[in-house]
Amino acid sequence: MNEWEDFINRCNNCEKCGLSVYRKNVVIGRGTPKPCPLMFIGEGPGEQEDIQGEAFVGRAGKLLDLLLTALEFDPSDYYIANIVKCRPPENRIPTQDEVSACLPWLRFQVKYIKPSILVCLGATAAKAIIDRDLKITQVRGTCIEKGGYVMIPTYHPAAVLRDNSKRLDFFRDMKLVKEKLSEIKQR
Ligand code: URA
Repeated sequence: MNEWEDFINRCNNCEKCGLSVYRKNVVIGRGTPKPCPLMFIGEGPGEQEDIQGEAFVGRAGKLLDLLLTALEFDPSDYYIANIVKCRPPENRIPTQDEVSACLPWLRFQVKYIKPSILVCLGATAAKAIIDRDLKITQVRGTCIEKGGYVMIPTYHPAAVLRDNSKRLDFFRDMKLVKEKLSEIKQR
């Protein structure tokens, strides 16, 4: 068994927090598990993700995919993961304890995938990864250099679906991600 297979195995048997009780599937991520320059990080699986065992396959994921296709992102350039790997009941925000229990799995993924850019989709991801006290409306669309990564926080696509007025900013932020990606790939 290689390192990645062993990681999947351990995730599938994880009982580090109470979310394990409710899950149908542990949602590891989406994309090819190999080094690539960009990683999107969401909050946690929703209903469809829990059923299908893959990240961002529900309505929010469809919006994300639409934008990634429109902006001509190459799927081999990115990997998509979440802060927590099991669906919180009623899609509630994961608690700090659940986030802390799950973060080591994400850290392994980041080490394995070796992205240069981390895009935090929504406040939960941005708070867990960048700064617990940040306000997503204040930091979205900026590039924050931390720990050797370029971190770009933006809205969660589900928030964009709920509030149309966020669409243009979300689009602009994704364009910024594409620009940073092109810069990094040219180096
Ligand atoms: N929302 C998330 O944050 N992640 C998913 O995988 C799906 C919806």
